[in-house]
Amino acid sequence: MSDIYKDLTSDEWLFHEKHYILSETDDRGIILYANDLFCEIAGYTREELIGKPHNIVRHPDMPRVAFKGLWDDLRNKGFWTGYVKNRRKDNGYYWVYATALRKNHPDGTTTYLSVRLKPSRNNVDACEKLYAELRAQE
Ligand SMILES: Cc1cc2nc3c(=O)[nH]c(=O)nc-3n(C[C@H](O)[C@H](O)[C@H](O)COP(=O)(O)O)c2cc1C
Repeated sequence: MSDIYKDLTSDEWLFHEKHYILSETDDRGIILYANDLFCEIAGYTREELIGKPHNIVRHPDMPRVAFKGLWDDLRNKGFWTGYVKNRRKDNGYYWVYATALRKNHPDGTTTYLSVRLKPSRNNVDACEKLYAELRAQE
């Protein structure tokens, strides 16, 4: 059964609110783990995602400053939360409300975990406007 559906009036894909998208990366953002919903909504097989940089789903509408904030917060505070527009393999897109966390392992390595929930339409609309303004300044 598919957990995703497409908006018929645009290239946007959505997922049901009881589900979440999960991934884990190494300290440089290389994908180590992807759950089924991540593969499905991004339009890639797990084999295509594992070992690739997480910017494989970067959408050109996202301002650079958002990811600078993500990396600064993850490295300095160990925590980041924000709204992200991601690009699918077929050039469609999907919005997420993401929380990312730093995990320090006993062997001294660091990985990062991100859980994404379905964002509210109001917040997506607000971010669409804000990110367009930020992009215009870059
Ligand atoms: C745990 C984690 C999850 C991430 N999730 C995403 C994501 O869903 N979409 C995205 O574009 N970048 C994500 N990033 C950030 C990317 O690593 C990358 O910094 C970003 O796509 C910008 O690409 P660039 O660094 O090549 O400019 C994530 C990073 C981490 C550490």
